[in-house]
Amino acid sequence: MNDMSNSLPRWLRPDVLSMPGYEPVEPPEVLARRLGLPVEAIAKLDANENPYGPSPRVGEALADYKSYHLYPDPAHGEVREALANYIGVGAEHIVAGSGADELLDIVTRMSLAPGDAAVDNVPTFGMYPFIVQLAGGRVAKVSRRDDFTIDLDGIKAAVAQGAKLIFAATPNNPTGNVATAGEIDALLALDALVVLDEAYAEFAGKSYVKLVPQNDNLIVLRTFSKWAGLAGLRAGYGIMPQYLAELAMRVKMPYNLNAAAQVAMLASLQDVGGLMINVNKIINERERLREKLAAVPFLRALPSSANFLLCEVSGLEAKDVWHRLREQGIIVRYYHTALLSNYIRISVGRPQDTDRLVAALQEIGETVHGRA
Ligand SMILES: Cc1ncc(COP(=O)(O)O)c(C=O)c1O
Repeated sequence: MNDMSNSLPRWLRPDVLSMPGYEPVEPPEVLARRLGLPVEAIAKLDANENPYGPSPRVGEALADYKSYHLYPDPAHGEVREALANYIGVGAEHIVAGSGADELLDIVTRMSLAPGDAAVDNVPTFGMYPFIVQLAGGRVAKVSRRDDFTIDLDGIKAAVAQGAKLIFAATPNNPTGNVATAGEIDALLALDALVVLDEAYAEFAGKSYVKLVPQNDNLIVLRTFSKWAGLAGLRAGYGIMPQYLAELAMRVKMPYNLNAAAQVAMLASLQDVGGLMINVNKIINERERLREKLAAVPFLRALPSSANFLLCEVSGLEAKDVWHRLREQGIIVRYYHTALLSNYIRISVGRPQDTDRLVAALQEIGETVHGRA
């Protein structure tokens, strides 16, 4: 055995050893066990998942598929054709992968050499710094402005200092706001690769994918996790200039998109109408939730173009609110970061989830302020 007590083993990267790791969400069964509750009592409003699940066609197609014993198509030919049809940009621009997360990883490793910097417009999705650090890159944090719009001057300054890659989510997670066309143009004018993360685009009804073929520094990322209810199958894709798509196809793991994910993506794309009914239900529920939250005195829900609401907590600790909801099986997202320490993020669930959540919040308010 090697004695590791005095020094780190020389075969590991010290920067990786000191990485904090991404904090993933726990599945409902694990949460239920931890909380001593039946799994049906869990309202999972912490990961922006789709409460209505996938299209019924997905289960049928998975059951009918006959080739699980064979490696899946490494070129994702059928999937890319179907995606091209869905988004209106040619298949030669599309690269599919195991969730938008994998595309983030591929494009980051294509762009950053160890020591290179990427702009992270905080607060935003926590995978960006994680993936940059794993690639040996540096994170150039640029804080969003008070209204959570991106700070173009700050980004320009970071690029002037050498940052090569810019991550911008629209709608942004967790703030829910979208980037404007003017902001996108300003980003594209910079000498950097812009990764526009549109994981929630279907809820916003707005996408910049059509800009990809005319811009050699724009990558748009999309996923089936949210609108299509496929978070568990890991299905995402990127739309990029052809020279980047060719490179990504060359350097990705050959069978990165498993057979089940390919089958499920195809089945979903044959039922866009059915899935969009669920998307619209979620959008309507988001607005109903926001109205109901207006009556909770210690919460201020921000407007959102996605399937979640970021809520500012005042007069109470956000962590206490998170904890007290959790004790009842209502799981929302709490952040351990200084920027968001007095916020919680609530994913939009079914109407019964909204009603349960709002009743629980009102009860928390009453126990704090005392009944009249
Ligand atoms: C902004 C953003 N991008 C990407 C993802 C990850 O998507 P996927 O499940 O396809 O990896 C998420 C998931 O929460 C997200 O919020």
